[in-house]
Amino acid sequence: MKVRKAVIPAAGFGTRMLPITSIVPKELLPVCGRPVIEHVVKEAVDGGIEEVILVISEGKEAVADYFRPNEKLRAQLIKDGKHDALKQLENIWNMVKITTVYQHEQNGLGHAVLAAKDAVGNEPFAVLLGDSIIQMDECGSFTKHLISTFNMYGRSVVGVQEVEECLIHKYGIFEGGEFDDTIYNGKRLIEKPTEDETNSNLAFCARYVFKPEIFQFLEQTKPGRNNEIQLTDAMHQLLLSDGLLGAKLLGDRYDIGDCNGLLLANLSLTEFGCK
Ligand code: UTP
Repeated sequence: MKVRKAVIPAAGFGTRMLPITSIVPKELLPVCGRPVIEHVVKEAVDGGIEEVILVISEGKEAVADYFRPNEKLRAQLIKDGKHDALKQLENIWNMVKITTVYQHEQNGLGHAVLAAKDAVGNEPFAVLLGDSIIQMDECGSFTKHLISTFNMYGRSVVGVQEVEECLIHKYGIFEGGEFDDTIYNGKRLIEKPTEDETNSNLAFCARYVFKPEIFQFLEQTKPGRNNEIQLTDAMHQLLLSDGLLGAKLLGDRYDIGDCNGLLLANLSLTEFGCK
């Protein structure tokens, strides 16, 4: 079945970026003049996605409103003859079908994905974290690459990147064997392990394609690391029942979850010059 839908979790509090995130969602902070979320949605659309399901929380409605036509502004721009400005906005408003769902309590990433269950239905879907931009070599869409991998092997897939050992404790970690240059076969997935708990340095890089069975496992998942419903724990159960692949990141990931990440993304992407 075709991967038509993408879930973008964007409901978190963004506490690492306070005070600004007390009022402005981190997903709306600008990278190269455009909100992070627009880069993420564009990657999904370039990957062939037809419907984006944004998971938001109360107070973060602006993340979804960004994609909705603003009639008052449209009328003003027409009146002022600002056609280029209007065209730019219409490109955003017409980008893709956007559906909004709420995660009422911020109980972790797994809980946020589970909030999209009814909107996704019984079909495979992509997940893109709303606070991470991926710049592929050649300016392509990493989501497109993951979807091709999913179609080729018929298994759920997570994007993975090598990280320094001292950073392993910050990520979901993928353990498995390489079966070609860019694909790994998963054996065990573990959320934010200590260095003693794993010998892998392959971290999830904010992009996934899942079979709908992930929802059953999310429903059974108890709070784990940090007392949150961890997507990694449900993914591990999916791996045990059906297998799960890791696809090597072909490019760079910018995590806009803290101020350094935001700065680095702006400097690097301006330099890179992809449109
Ligand atoms: P993070 O863990 O980086 O986001 O989640 P956070 O919880 O907002 O950040 P801090 O740690 O408090 O600074 C990655 C993505 O998942 C979303 C976030 O909005 C972000 O885009 N998320 C996270 C949810 O949608 N719900 C959650 O419960 C947690």
